[in-house]
Amino acid sequence: MYIKSLTLKNFRNYEEQSLTFDEKTNVFQGNNAQGKTNLLEALYLFSMGKSFRTNQDADLIRFGESYTKASLTFCDRNRKHTLEIIILRDKKKQIKINGLTISRLGELMGHLNVVLFYPEELGLVKEGPHVRRRFMDVALSQLRPGYYHTLGQYHRVVDQRNKLIKRIRMAGSADLSDTMFVWNEQLAALGMELMHYREEFMGRLGVLAAKAHFEASGEKLTLVYKPRFESKEAFLEKLESGFERELEQGYTLHGPHREDFEIFINDKEAKTFGSQGQQRSAVLSLKLAQADLLFEEYGEYPVLLLDDIMSELDQNRRSYLAGRIPDKQVFITCTELDALLHGGKIFNVSSGKAVLQ
Ligand SMILES: Nc1ncnc2c1ncn2[C@@H]1O[C@H](COP(=O)(O)OP(=O)(O)OP(=O)(O)O)[C@@H](O)[C@H]1O
Ligand SMILES: [Mg+2]
Repeated sequence: MYIKSLTLKNFRNYEEQSLTFDEKTNVFQGNNAQGKTNLLEALYLFSMGKSFRTNQDADLIRFGESYTKASLTFCDRNRKHTLEIIILRDKKKQIKINGLTISRLGELMGHLNVVLFYPEELGLVKEGPHVRRRFMDVALSQLRPGYYHTLGQYHRVVDQRNKLIKRIRMAGSADLSDTMFVWNEQLAALGMELMHYREEFMGRLGVLAAKAHFEASGEKLTLVYKPRFESKEAFLEKLESGFERELEQGYTLHGPHREDFEIFINDKEAKTFGSQGQQRSAVLSLKLAQADLLFEEYGEYPVLLLDDIMSELDQNRRSYLAGRIPDKQVFITCTELDALLHGGKIFNVSSGKAVLQ
């Protein structure tokens, strides 16, 4: 699939902007703080319905303005689609797919698929579990829109259960245990569903990531994901036996919201033993595998958004990447043009204006 055009009104530092893209390579070049990443952020918004940099939609509204409106057209192998997003301060954002307003964000998932690589994501290997969980959640939501729905329900149950734990702590009463039983059942049922999704996903991702990684570096990459519980019964048992500790801590301690996966390079844990370059490579391999998996699933390659990748990767890895992308649509930001980025369209970005070179 490829993105045909983007129109922005009051988005970040863009007052008004209309762009038509190349079906393959698009480069946003410019100095720091001019609005390159803002453009990738706008494109990403149409894939996940939210930014990758902020949870506050209002941050996307240009300073001093009351709303932002963005629209985008893209083509998949069937047809052209139009997406539109309007964000007002303190209001629920409005999203339209081909002119029809959707009522739940989940309806957007799986339409426009993008895979993003940006500098902060180097933390995927070395930072805490929440970063890897977010990776699984974002990738799986695109791959399986049902996952996004279940995840939302699961988080609501965790919230409710946490409130109940706090109430029991305050009241010190056992009267609420019937209610807790109901939440436990739901937590375990939804949790098992999420873990099944993750298990299948991580298995397939592991194969593709190992392949990409070996091609790029000759090293062996292994992803290890183990669901926290083997069965719903085991999950429920832990909720029973571990409840005292949950009361002490004041929140839900067990389930997919606490999971993680491990990354090994040549059988050594990458988080602890990997060099910076190896960690970077591993992230790139994971991202390429994410894209390959979307291709396996939909028969169409997602759009790649590569933020500042040229300054993050060494020559070998850049060449490998460049070799992988020629027949796909990519958006690349950079401060300096690179010889690897030839063909396609180059946009010069300066003070919230992008101009075709
Ligand atoms: N809501 C907003 N309204 C107006 N301007 C904003 C808003 N949010 C961010 N900006 C401005 O956008 C600019 C940053 O844009 P962006 O992150 O796209 O830069 P960049 O070109 O990617 O820079 P770098 O090369 O440093 O990554 C900043 O100068 C910031 O002040
Ligand atoms: Mg940037």
